[in-house]
Amino acid sequence: MNDSPDRPSLPVRALPTSVASEFAETATSWKPDDADGRTLFDTPQSEDGSVSVVFPQEKFDRWRSQALVHIESVDGRRYLAQVVRGPYASPVGLPAGAPALVITQVEGSLFTPPYHGWANLEILGEIVGGQTTLPLFRPRPNSLVKLLTPEQTRTALRCDGDLRLGNAVGFVDLPVGLSSDEKAHLPRHTLAVGTTGAGKSTFIASWVEKLAKAGFNVILIDVEGEYSSIHQPADSSRILPALQARGLTPVGIENTFLLVPTDATAGDPKHPRLRRFCLNFSNVSPYIASELLQGNDAQTDRFLAAYDAAAELVTEIGLVADRAEHARRVTEWDDQEAGYPDLKLAQVLDVAIAVVGVLGKEEPSDQFLHAEGFKAHVPRLFEKAALVRKKLEHLASWRKTVRLIAALHRTGLFDRSDAKAKDGREIRTLDFVRILAEPGKVLVYDLSGLDAPPHRNLAIADLLRSVADAQDLLYEAAPAEKKPKTVIVIEEAHEFVSAERVSQMPALFSQIQRIARRGRKRWLGLMFATQFPQHLPGELFTLCNNRILMRLGDEPTLRRLQHSVGGVSESLWPRLKNLPTGQAIVSAQGIDPAMIVNLEPGRCKLRMVD
Ligand SMILES: Nc1ncnc2c1ncn2[C@@H]1O[C@H](COP(=O)(O)OP(=O)(O)OP(=O)(O)O)[C@@H](O)[C@H]1O
Ligand SMILES: [Mg+2]
Repeated sequence: MNDSPDRPSLPVRALPTSVASEFAETATSWKPDDADGRTLFDTPQSEDGSVSVVFPQEKFDRWRSQALVHIESVDGRRYLAQVVRGPYASPVGLPAGAPALVITQVEGSLFTPPYHGWANLEILGEIVGGQTTLPLFRPRPNSLVKLLTPEQTRTALRCDGDLRLGNAVGFVDLPVGLSSDEKAHLPRHTLAVGTTGAGKSTFIASWVEKLAKAGFNVILIDVEGEYSSIHQPADSSRILPALQARGLTPVGIENTFLLVPTDATAGDPKHPRLRRFCLNFSNVSPYIASELLQGNDAQTDRFLAAYDAAAELVTEIGLVADRAEHARRVTEWDDQEAGYPDLKLAQVLDVAIAVVGVLGKEEPSDQFLHAEGFKAHVPRLFEKAALVRKKLEHLASWRKTVRLIAALHRTGLFDRSDAKAKDGREIRTLDFVRILAEPGKVLVYDLSGLDAPPHRNLAIADLLRSVADAQDLLYEAAPAEKKPKTVIVIEEAHEFVSAERVSQMPALFSQIQRIARRGRKRWLGLMFATQFPQHLPGELFTLCNNRILMRLGDEPTLRRLQHSVGGVSESLWPRLKNLPTGQAIVSAQGIDPAMIVNLEPGRCKLRMVD
């Protein structure tokens, strides 16, 4: 064409030699790479710690949400990163919303233009000498991005502890678990939250089975009687297919004991190892007892006054098993931690009744007193009551205080060791030093028969303290390779420690904090489960380093949780709203970054789940 006489001929000049040599160099070094994608240039919207990757259409199948990658930056640095948005598809050469595309797809046309994929990656760290460290640089544009193989992913995450939680979502066969030998795992305490029906109890059932198998003793505080038949295999029509899909067979948990308070109705009266227990009033700090009784200030003052007077009388009269031992324990008594040695609830009640008598100007009488109180010591009792009355008057307030204490006394929960329950079983004090000495037990602390939350909470406070003490003793005494391990699961935790009430319960809450702190060093792990995380005090979140976050739909709750829980990336939070039943975002010691995990369902029977 250039030969045409009508057209001007274009002068063609040779390329400068420098350019030619550059081309030549690139051309010879080019070969198809084994990358799954390449990083893009940054834009003003780019953020530190994240980078975009693009990849060709034929690689689409390889890319998944949550997948891990290595980025081999052209400057020689290597990074570990994770897919946090996408993978998405974009048409090649056309904007995704181009009318031509929309119309052809609306019209059902078979035409799909060629496309490529893209995703946002969060940079987890720079890999230096096999370790992942804080990245100080940024992957350059056009760096190779390679998806990790399942094997590499397992090595990079090291999240497959022997106590299996389930499998990571988005990965091929990536088991996720905590380690039973790692003191930084379970004793760092766990929070399990999720809306009702999200699958908390079903997960806890499987978790308990695994803990016991790994040699832990597990104490399950069950306020609804849900776990009272876990010694039997699962039979729910919802769980059987889920178990089958994972190749799991329904089976009951071995070595289960059902602990039921005194005469309360048991969740499963036919349980083969049902034991009836009573609480010891002398185990509970007077401050915790008065907080849990939820009286007003006037009643609390009177409760504490009656408490002190009853304590004095016990020592003065000598209503103790062993005077020397009693004297020793009195000198060591920490009233924030425990109750007055040898003191019984009936004795505090009798003092309050006697004060009412004195204030009402009644003759001393044993008519309303109790045999295990001061019925046999009426003159001494009324003498003491007269002194108390001088400090605190007001008959109506004392009457209300008597009612408060009497309601607790009527539960028959306290100080009934060696009596017989209505079903003929003996009532015993739980001796946790003996109980926890053997590993692998599952103790279901069945409080479903106690209707009043304050009474249930007193039972829980007593349990926590007794178990913490026993664990301390056993831990100190055991040889290094045989340290006992215990986990206490507190279901419906919001009923026990609520943010609303925490200001009214400083003694209880600081006891929980002390137990939690000590527990970290002595292998006592606490697990709090609730569908109302918004009702838990913020301090509780900081006590728990492991979080199992199941579906939560409520926006304000989500925001509050996001505010108080670290370690979960921004991109994961929106997922929480729509998580299917049985899945959770898990952020824990040893599971970093946080991951979505398909939790293993329990193989045992839960009651009232359907
Ligand atoms: N992993 C799972 N796979 C299949 N079904 C499940 C799974 N987890 C739970 N379910 C089913 O979902 C329902 C609710 O589970 P579950 O009782 O464990 O929830 P929850 O969070 O404890 O609820 P609530 O707060 O009311 O106690 C049950 O019918 C249970 O069988
Ligand atoms: Mg539940």
